[in-house]
This record gives sequence, C-alpha cells and structure tokens, in this order.
Amino acid sequence: MQLLKSLLPLLLSLTSISATVYNFEELGALADDDSLDTAWKNGALINTTLATLTAGDTFVFPNKTFHVMGGLRSDDLSDVTISFDGTLVFSNDIDAWPKNENGDVFPSLVFNNPKNVVFTSSGKGTLDGQGGKWWGLPGIGYLRRQENRPRLFEVANGENILVENIFFLNSAYWTFWVHNVNGLEVRFCDIEARRTEKDKHTLIDITAFNTDGYDVTGRDVWIHDCTVWNQDDTIAVKDDSQNMLFERITASGVGLTIGSIGASTVKNITFRDCHMHNTYKGIYTKFRGEGGVIEDVTYENIVIENPSQWPIWIGPAQQSDSNRLCAAHPCSICWPTVPFAECNAADSQYKNILLKNITVIGGKMSPGVIMGGTSQGMGMENIVFDDVVFQDPSSKPWGDDYYKCEGVTSGVAKGKTWPVPPCFDDQTDKN
Ligand SMILES: *[C@@H]1O[C@H](CO)[C@@H](O)[C@H](O)[C@H]1NC(C)=O
Ligand SMILES: *[C@@H]1O[C@H](CO)[C@@H](O)[C@H](O)[C@H]1NC(C)=O
Ligand SMILES: *[C@@H]1O[C@H](CO)[C@@H](O)[C@H](O)[C@H]1NC(C)=O
Ligand SMILES: *[C@@H]1O[C@H](CO)[C@@H](O)[C@H](O)[C@H]1NC(C)=O
Repeated sequence: MQLLKSLLPLLLSLTSISATVYNFEELGALADDDSLDTAWKNGALINTTLATLTAGDTFVFPNKTFHVMGGLRSDDLSDVTISFDGTLVFSNDIDAWPKNENGDVFPSLVFNNPKNVVFTSSGKGTLDGQGGKWWGLPGIGYLRRQENRPRLFEVANGENILVENIFFLNSAYWTFWVHNVNGLEVRFCDIEARRTEKDKHTLIDITAFNTDGYDVTGRDVWIHDCTVWNQDDTIAVKDDSQNMLFERITASGVGLTIGSIGASTVKNITFRDCHMHNTYKGIYTKFRGEGGVIEDVTYENIVIENPSQWPIWIGPAQQSDSNRLCAAHPCSICWPTVPFAECNAADSQYKNILLKNITVIGGKMSPGVIMGGTSQGMGMENIVFDDVVFQDPSSKPWGDDYYKCEGVTSGVAKGKTWPVPPCFDDQTDKN
C-alpha cells in the first residue's frame, strides 16, 4: 500500500502525458457573434468536443463571449476538467431550441454519468441562460410556456464532481440541477435570476418563476461560499437525499429549502452560517405528498433580513403545480389571505429538526407556519427551536400567536427563543 502510494504521483504523471488541452476557439469556435448560425455551429462543436474527451483532458473556453445553441449533452465523461474562462451565452431562439418528439425542450447543458469531473474557471466563468425571453411578459409568459423551459446546468448520476468559480446567470428555468449524485462540492459560485435591479423581490421579479438555485439529490453534497439571488428556492434538497452541508451562503429568494419531498426519506442535512438579505421566504421545508420523512436536519447561525413572505415554514409545500395560481398542492400560495384557499397538511413526517441561533429582522408576515401531519403517528417529533429570535415581527396574519402551529407531537423552545410557537413546550430562559 505504501509503495503504491509513493508510486501514485509517478503513475499520474505518466497518464497525463496523453492528456490534451482542447481550446474552444482554436477548434474553430467563433466569438462575439450572436447569429443563429454561429450559435448552432458553436453548440455542435461543444457536443463533439465533449464526446472526444478522455481521461486527463481539459476543455478550455477562452475568456471571450461565445453564443451557443442549447441542448448540449455529454455522456459518461470521466477524469476531465472543463474550464469556463469566458462567457457562454445560450440562444434565446425558442423555436429553434432542440426539443424531443413531444416538444419538451432539452436542458442547456447536461452531463449524464460523469465521474471525477471538474467544472472550473481561471477567473469567473459565466453561463448566461438569457431567461428573460423564456420567462416572457410578467404573468403572461408563465401561462404560455409553463415549465417547458430549459434548465441551465444539469448533471445526472454523477460521482465526485467539483463545480467552482462559475456565475450562472438568468436561467430560463431551474439553474443548477445535480441529481442522484454521489459526491459533489460546489464553491465560489454565484446564481442570479432577476428581471429588475431592485434590492428586493418585486411582483415583477417574482414572475421569473421556477428559477431555482442549487437543486440537488443524492449523497455527500457540500455547497459553500456561494451566493444566490433568484425567484424560487435558493437551495432545494430534493427526494432521497442524505449527508449534505450548505454553509456560508448568501441567499435571497424562496428559501433555504428542503423539498418538495414525496414518498422518500431525506436525512442528515445542515444549513449554517447563511445570510438572507431581503429574501422572500427564509427557512422552508415542504412535503408535496404522503409517505415522506425529513429527519436529522439542522439550520444554524442564520440571519434573515426583511423577509417579504414567511420567515420560517416547516410543513406541506405551499405551491400550485398547475396554471390555477391558487390551487393547493397541497397548500395554496394564496393561503391564508385569499378566502377559500386551502392549506392541507401532508401525511409525511418530520423528526429531529433543530433550528439554532436564527435571527429574523423585520418582515412583512408573522414568524411562521409549523404544520405537521394530522393522521395517527404523523405528528412532528423532536422539533427544537434554540435561540430562534425575531426582532420586530409582524402580527399578520397570526396576531399574538405569531405562528400557525399544529400537528406537533413534541416541540421545544429553548434559550432566548422568542416568540415561542404556541404548540411547543416553553423551556426558554425567560420561563
Ligand atoms: C447536441 O447533442 C444533442 C444530443 O445528441 C442534440 O439533441 C442537440 O441538438 C445537439 N446540440 C447542438 C447545438 O448541436
Ligand atoms: C476576462 O476578461 C475580462 C475583461 O474582458 C477581465 O476582467 C477578466 O479578468 C478576464 N478573466 C481572466 C480569467 O483572464
Ligand atoms: C452527515 O453528513 C455529513 C456531511 O454533510 C457527514 O460528514 C456525516 O458523517 C453525516 N453523518 C452521519 C451520521 O451520517
Ligand atoms: C449566531 O449566528 C450569527 C450569524 O451567523 C453569528 O455571527 C454568531 O457568531 C452566532 N452565535 C453563536 C453563539 O454561534
């Protein structure tokens, strides 16, 4: 073993002899030309080059702007580095965009089954999704295209993936979707999806629907020292995820989110040292159906400033999956303000959820909603709020209760927590 270890660097240097550096421009790509013809040629060149790469190779996009058609795809890449030193601008020609036989668009850039792949930049690379055209006119665009819009960056079934120093700009749909991964680190990356330059999520901005930030499923994920400003979940841990850590993230959008979760188990997830400036939601965990479990979750050292909607939500998903905006799937986004809008609890279970050292400053709505399952055995177990402190909370809509709190079998408030959710056991210092 010791011998192998000392030989390893030598072996690695031998294999790297065959390594090739492919420079996108030297291969024939055209920079600074936004014609459709060039977008297709540049795109096709990315497809063919990705298919050529073998272990040890590097594919470099030099520090220029390249317009590309989307639907770019790579299968089974292993042991390679892709360096985005400039900008890739994805076409916003919706008619020309590659689609399957049902008319569903392909993602902008997808990697299937990559192993030991590094996505990096010598500076800060940009992937620009030109989402504006896909989002369409505020309010109307969604009705027209709904969710048939391309994801910007997708990795399916990856193993040992590093993504660093990349700016993901204005995705048409979800920005970063890495699913069923085993080993992922993301660092020094930024995500932005916005219609205006306002320092808040205006009604106009929020219609850039589904511009999720970092969405992941799988095992062993570490995302740190990143930023997100978008109009949907800033981070979304989705079905069947375990062992994930998110830290030192500046996030503003629809929450540091777990969900929505269906009939699967999500376990051992930590968010810590995060700052949420003028966010929409803050801490957000959600079930979309029955039979799910979310357990061993910690949110720690988080500051939420001026949330425009719920600061803390632990419950069913507050969403509509159809073009009826107020439909309850299972809890309506119009609830509780619009009469007859429903919020149904999901028969799924929360266990061992710890919120520790959370500070919420200001905000337009009451501190939150904590809503566990109502059927036998579905109540939340071991929910702990330790130093979950609100400064100047709103009383709308829950008045002096501050929280909607139900379906909790065992909940405890500790330390300086204030206000105390009414269905929790008050073990705070004051008491
Ligand atoms: C890239 O390859 C994929 C899959 O083979 C194809 O659907 C897509 O149209 C290609 N994109 C371009 C720009 O050639
Ligand atoms: C890319 O070019 C821009 C100016 O066009 C420069 O600011 C940036 O530092 C360059 N990045 C790298 C990695 O050379
Ligand atoms: C929980 O996840 C972290 C990674 O975020 C990992 O280091 C730790 O070992 C996991 N704990 C358990 C009990 O699996
Ligand atoms: C609480 O969180 C804040 C903000 O992240 C941090 O500055 C502070 O050090 C934390 N306090 C403790 C006791 O960890």
